Amino acid sequence: MGSLEAISKPHAVCVPFPAQGHINPMLKLAKLLHFKGFHITFVNTEYNHKRLLKSRGPDSLKGLSSFRFETIPDGLPEPDVEVTQHVPSLCDYTRRTCLPHFRNVLSKLRDSPSVPPVSCIVSDGIMSFTLDAAQEFGVPNVLFWTTSACGFMCYVQYQQLIERGLTPLKDASYLTNGYLETAIDWIPGIKEIQLKDIPTFIRTTDPDDIMLNFGRGECIRAQKASAIILNTFDALEHDILEAFSSILPPVYSIGPLNFLLNDVTDKDLNAIGSNLWKEEPGCLEWLDTKEANTVVYVNFGSVTVMTNDQLIEFAWGLANSNKTFVWVIRPDLVVGENAVLPPEFVTETKNRGLLSSWCPQEQVLAHPAIGGFLTHNGWNSTLESVCGGVPMICWPFFAEQHTNCRFCCKEWGIGLEIGDVERDKIESLVRELMDGEKGKEMKKKALEWKTLAQKAASGPNGSSFVHFEKMIREVLMSKI
Ligand code: UDX
Repeated sequence: MGSLEAISKPHAVCVPFPAQGHINPMLKLAKLLHFKGFHITFVNTEYNHKRLLKSRGPDSLKGLSSFRFETIPDGLPEPDVEVTQHVPSLCDYTRRTCLPHFRNVLSKLRDSPSVPPVSCIVSDGIMSFTLDAAQEFGVPNVLFWTTSACGFMCYVQYQQLIERGLTPLKDASYLTNGYLETAIDWIPGIKEIQLKDIPTFIRTTDPDDIMLNFGRGECIRAQKASAIILNTFDALEHDILEAFSSILPPVYSIGPLNFLLNDVTDKDLNAIGSNLWKEEPGCLEWLDTKEANTVVYVNFGSVTVMTNDQLIEFAWGLANSNKTFVWVIRPDLVVGENAVLPPEFVTETKNRGLLSSWCPQEQVLAHPAIGGFLTHNGWNSTLESVCGGVPMICWPFFAEQHTNCRFCCKEWGIGLEIGDVERDKIESLVRELMDGEKGKEMKKKALEWKTLAQKAASGPNGSSFVHFEKMIREVLMSKI
């Protein structure tokens, strides 16, 4: 039996989508809620929970008495890394199979005298099946969309894009005939963008496409949420955040979560980690030996894949730029095979290049040696770069990474886009980023955004700080 104090706590059940870019921000949010006095149940998929234990060691997910883990199956027929990295399968199976398992977790918690009664659910925006369970158990359900506001706003327009006949595409030639350059000027809060900047699942000719319909459906279901949370801040995406107010339940911008987390100093809590890959040691120590702003950091996140030819173009682009670099090559980065780098590249760059398979990215981007980031523009990576005051070279891969790229390059002044992967182009962009006039302007701008991000996350008046407290008071604790 828990102590009276323990069982009278508010209790949040946190449900991330089972992919790295979603587990990371959800864990941060869960830690912040714990810091605010919540009992936390964090619901991983069985497969990911095993992966987390393997990459971090058996003690890493022991949690605390008031921060516990539960697991549910992801429903995938053959769980292995390749399948669980396949986003359409993950979306399709979680949507169709997770609800009964999640209900069981809630029933088990309800029947357990040692934990406080569940008082709210905080689930990923694309795990909206939880809304049905929340209604049955009579608790509020906040959806955490782990995208940028600009990316989310574009997903919210999927229904409109279909109704206006802009997607699905008439035939495959529309992918290359200039059609994707069509200007779109009617999205609330966004002045003008092109179809190619909209999250990529509209690039289909199939009206039954899983991802097009999943994106559309999840945004329609978002209407039923008690509130929506975004890991962004007012100063960065003000117009879009304001535009949400007339089309969705209350939207709270509470980012960057890693800056809000600065207040949390509990060692046991901070020891809970979310890396699905094992971190290679040595990267930060290597950076300590480098001058400020001299190193290019290259990392394409957890889902991006490329061909070995593209890998080789990136390699020679980096080598020919003559810059020092840290390049993270995930074991499954090259599609269908192991990455093979030319031996001449390895020899030529051995004194100025560090190759790694997974690194502590947030700390790397916060390291003074890093002068620029070659990224796929996943939202976490983009925001972590903003937090580090680091300008970017952008090579978006899929989903709303193209929207993030557009905003980095055209609105926020902190990005240069690559387009096709050619070594000469990469070489000249890296030189521009690290030494050029544009690079200097972008660095200045990136530092300005960093300051604004810090301000947003600082109490008592920072916008994200205020929204976080308000969201807890007005939504998560509304039924207590
Ligand atoms: C993606 C994108 O967020 C999003 O565009 C899409 O909706 C689906 O998921 P991902 O491609 O993994 O996620 O990118 P990102 O959002 O940048 O998240 C990667 C996370 O892993 C970051 O928090 C980053 O710090 C972390 N990471 C990555 C490491 O800690 N070490 C690494 O070596 C690489």
